[in-house]
Amino acid sequence: MTEDNQQAGRPSDPCVMVIFGAAGDLTKRKLIPALCNLAAGNLLSQQLAIVGFGYNDFTTESFRQKLAEDIKTFATSPVDPKIWAWFQERIYYVRGDFSDTNAYQVLKKQLVEIGNKHKTQGNLFYYLAVAPRFFSEIVKQLGAAGMTEEQNGQWRRVIIEKPFGHDLESARALNADIKKVLEERQIYRIDHYLGKETVQNLMMFRFSNSIFEPIWNRHFIDHVQITAAETVGVEQRGGYYETAGALRDMVPNHLFQLVSLTAMEPPISFEADSVRDEQAKVLHALQPFSPEEVLSKTVRGQYGEGTTDGQRVPAYRAEPDVSPQSNTETYVALRLLIDNWRWAKVPFYLRTGKRLASRATEIAIRFHRAPFILFRDTPVGSLQRNELVIHIAPDEGISLQFGAKVPGPIMQQGTVKMNFNYVDYFGSRPSTGYERLLYDCMIGDATLFQRADMVEAGWAVITPVLDVWKALPPRSFPNYAAGSWGPKEADELLARDGHAWRDIDKDHHWK
Ligand code: BG6
Repeated sequence: MTEDNQQAGRPSDPCVMVIFGAAGDLTKRKLIPALCNLAAGNLLSQQLAIVGFGYNDFTTESFRQKLAEDIKTFATSPVDPKIWAWFQERIYYVRGDFSDTNAYQVLKKQLVEIGNKHKTQGNLFYYLAVAPRFFSEIVKQLGAAGMTEEQNGQWRRVIIEKPFGHDLESARALNADIKKVLEERQIYRIDHYLGKETVQNLMMFRFSNSIFEPIWNRHFIDHVQITAAETVGVEQRGGYYETAGALRDMVPNHLFQLVSLTAMEPPISFEADSVRDEQAKVLHALQPFSPEEVLSKTVRGQYGEGTTDGQRVPAYRAEPDVSPQSNTETYVALRLLIDNWRWAKVPFYLRTGKRLASRATEIAIRFHRAPFILFRDTPVGSLQRNELVIHIAPDEGISLQFGAKVPGPIMQQGTVKMNFNYVDYFGSRPSTGYERLLYDCMIGDATLFQRADMVEAGWAVITPVLDVWKALPPRSFPNYAAGSWGPKEADELLARDGHAWRDIDKDHHWK
């Protein structure tokens, strides 16, 4: 990882960034606000231009006006008018259909003109913020138009948004399609979880502290719980969500990133491929589910109506663009095992869902209980385990729980916590989570992007689950109330191993 670049504040390489689907939500909510934050941090090259490309009826002028309005709503902090003025004059719009070969010729010509004007040195950065059905088509068209070849030191890079395929076969097919045109090093498969500060901190935490690494294995760790709980429902995304479901939407991408960063071996360097090799090994070591195990080691759920944040909310089946008979899952819990020397027999429990009781994304490492000998008179159940929690959202930080003597004449154990909260130490730096990812792509650092083999390894674990679920439609949906902690089967999944989910409502917030 070229970490020192960012520390030194080296600006990004000169380039034209072309956003496909520029009129969509991602551009206004994340990309433009993130670029503004980078500009405010002097991390953007002066030799930069942004070109929106899509079928919407904008001109450069009207597109600039739209973004100027949008940024007022979506900036993470007020944008300095000088920065916006600088930014606005390098924004352009080219109208065209993604499958129209002529449109790419027009785009190509425009990119040369715009590139010359802003002295972008011929570098091109394509961001595919489009529906997945266009990924292959756009890459094919770019290739056919001669817009992906790297010559004379000029680079061409493509960021591809999620979802990257909808099962193993489609992910392989998509990889095969885009690799007909692009080299792996030109492809940046984005996972916005890797833009999160605490997720990036996982590697720093594990590998820059000598006290944690020696205990980071099956001898000391009893199990790991990874939670990504949301209080929101599917909002306006019912159409997409009906085709995806919680498993596809969250697990092979976001949650598997958390698994691999938690479980990976130390890389030999922070070069992109050293880090990704170690992550990929973890993903390859995930034990595949047999059909019987899908039944006993996975749980799916769908929310019924209920109460969230004091408001009555509808069932999933009553959400816009959702079928009233939908069998799409909005909750999933899994028990995973990693077949390697470090993690043999240590369960990794994953859960994620919509309309749960609280918003919380975290990784909890539960250590073995202490041997009881000294505490013979203490009920076993009251002896708490050591627990290390990496809080990713909404708070960012790390907490460590351990036992301490309750003051008084009797020998009694209490549980206490040491908390590190990012904001307390480093202040708050509002960001969209895309800053680092955009910057890294513009300097050619692919560490935080998924490689083809990682994506396929993730799908290889998930696809058998999808197949069994499809063959056996759920009989009890909806099976959890909005505002609850999910179906009771998810509690049973852990109870069978003598464990219980962390009580996040009680334990998550430390302030
Ligand atoms: C997206 C999913 O990738 O991640 C959404 O499509 C989900 O359904 C979101 O809400 C969660 O991301 P975050 O950053 O809010 O935890």
